[in-house]
Amino acid sequence: MPRIAIFASGNGSNAENLFHYFSQHKIAEISLIICNNLQAGILARAQNLGIPVLLIHKNSLYQQNVVENWLISLKIDWIVLAGFLWKIPEKLIALYPKKIVNIHPSLLPKYGGKGMYGMRVHEAVIAAGETESGISIHFVNEAYDEGAIIFQARCPIEMDETADSLARKIHQLEYEHFPKVLASLF
Ligand code: GAR
Repeated sequence: MPRIAIFASGNGSNAENLFHYFSQHKIAEISLIICNNLQAGILARAQNLGIPVLLIHKNSLYQQNVVENWLISLKIDWIVLAGFLWKIPEKLIALYPKKIVNIHPSLLPKYGGKGMYGMRVHEAVIAAGETESGISIHFVNEAYDEGAIIFQARCPIEMDETADSLARKIHQLEYEHFPKVLASLF
């Protein structure tokens, strides 16, 4: 079974959803969660689910080889970014070519790039008066949110839509599609 490391910075609801789907369908094992935020909700989720966590600071990702060493020693096959807000360094992309997948809460190339994450994306989409939004699942390359797109799903934006209500719709799309799209790649 492929061994997965999930990188996450926030609440971790996608990570938990992936865990349940992969366990239930015996598709992959989530062997490690890498987190860069001591306040992140993912930490309590990981503890409840019994998944080991590596808490990192900037140096361990960019300057040292801490992350690579853990990934190699745990025989990680795939990296999944589920709400991870730091840029993935080139050395990691070289180590895992076409094996790092990100989910982004907009229809890329719209509303992607540095600083575009989570609620900021939904606020920008609403402010621009868009009539639809969606999710993008893509391979990770050296540029934020610019790797090859694997899958997109759309949802309409209603007249009275708020960033909060859009975030809920987007999360539903993510829960439905992200596990299946990943399963199709493994
Ligand atoms: C998700 O909506 C994901 O698409 C987004 O962060 C949220 C994390 O939610 N990712 C980005 O914005 C990346 N640029 P979660 O922590 O509850 O899974």
